[in-house]
Amino acid sequence: MRIYLDNAATTPLRPEVIEAMTRSMKEHFGNPSSIHADGRTVRAAIEEARKTVAKHLNASIGEIFFTSGGTESNNMAIKCSVRDLGVRRIISSPIEHHCVLHSLESVEKQGVTIEMLRVDERGRVDYDQLETLLQDTGAGKTLVSLMHANNEIGTLSDMERISQLCHTYGAFYHSDTVQTMGHFPIDVSKTKIHFISGGAHKFHGPKGCGFIYINGDTKLKPMIDGGSQERNMRGGTENIYGITGLAKAFDLACENMETYRSHIEDLRSYFMEQLRENFEGIEFNGDYDGSYLYTVLSVSFPPSPKSDLLLLQLDIAGISASGGSACSSGAEAGSHVLSGTGSDPDRKTIRFSFSHYNTKEEIDQVIDKLKNIIEVKKMAVVAD
Ligand SMILES: Cc1ncc(COP(=O)(O)O)c(C=O)c1O
Repeated sequence: MRIYLDNAATTPLRPEVIEAMTRSMKEHFGNPSSIHADGRTVRAAIEEARKTVAKHLNASIGEIFFTSGGTESNNMAIKCSVRDLGVRRIISSPIEHHCVLHSLESVEKQGVTIEMLRVDERGRVDYDQLETLLQDTGAGKTLVSLMHANNEIGTLSDMERISQLCHTYGAFYHSDTVQTMGHFPIDVSKTKIHFISGGAHKFHGPKGCGFIYINGDTKLKPMIDGGSQERNMRGGTENIYGITGLAKAFDLACENMETYRSHIEDLRSYFMEQLRENFEGIEFNGDYDGSYLYTVLSVSFPPSPKSDLLLLQLDIAGISASGGSACSSGAEAGSHVLSGTGSDPDRKTIRFSFSHYNTKEEIDQVIDKLKNIIEVKKMAVVAD
């Protein structure tokens, strides 16, 4: 049996989700825009799913729009706020996911000013610099786009603090919450925010389906023109099976959040302890013991010929992990996050990411396999 420790890239579908989707495939064949009973049944299922997502975020149902995933939701927040809200400046960070960074490049070509905040060696943004930039009101309408958790190193941003700053200085606030959705409680009635995003496949739902929360007072025009689906915000017949699976997965993730969190936190601490105990020169990337995403542990191994092909050797040994960002997992491309945090390029980074399906026995097996691949710590010889 393989050991899957790449849950930040994607998670396996949970059986309850497969069951809900299979039922939907059998029963929901009508077009939700049709006014007859077959269409109305499907429309009702979509609205039920929307209600479930809204409930867990403490949002209104009119603030949730289903999309094809996190990438589309983030594109929409950035590009539509430039087009429809008169945003002229965006403050972000160099370690955002590529779907944000590339959207920023795209709006920059339209004359929008992009300001990147400094990040420290743990991937924490400079909040004082954010405030200084926001004080400059001459810069025009501003959007702050800062991810909630970094997908490679797991550092969390302080949503409450950013929200307060944006509120004080009248800026729009978008957070890429793809990695934290279903793993941390988010209450939009308490945290003032304009846009957040979710992708079902990060919480044991299907790939190719996600959502965006758009604050009810923020009026955007559609990014995909067509029919009147998603309250005129996204043309095209809805991905009904995906939406059904997303809602089931999100409901289960939110209902069991504390139980899963405590299980995963235990695994993560045990793994860290075992790594430190058994191997020389282990370091961890990100804010690993401060404000971190508990599903992610980014481990930095000292340079050595043995650690050079580590990811490949782990794969051969039956362990799936990642050497770069979620979306380029498997490919050992240079990471803009690790360079952005000034990480030593000679060290080898492996991102292990967990789900509630992982066990302590699996962690023990990973440690054993690692012992076969890299140098183990030399134990002190005790003289008798
Ligand atoms: C932080 C972050 N944002 C956005 C995305 C893109 O989400 P999706 O795969 O649903 O398009 C990912 C996926 O890896 C991610 O980790």
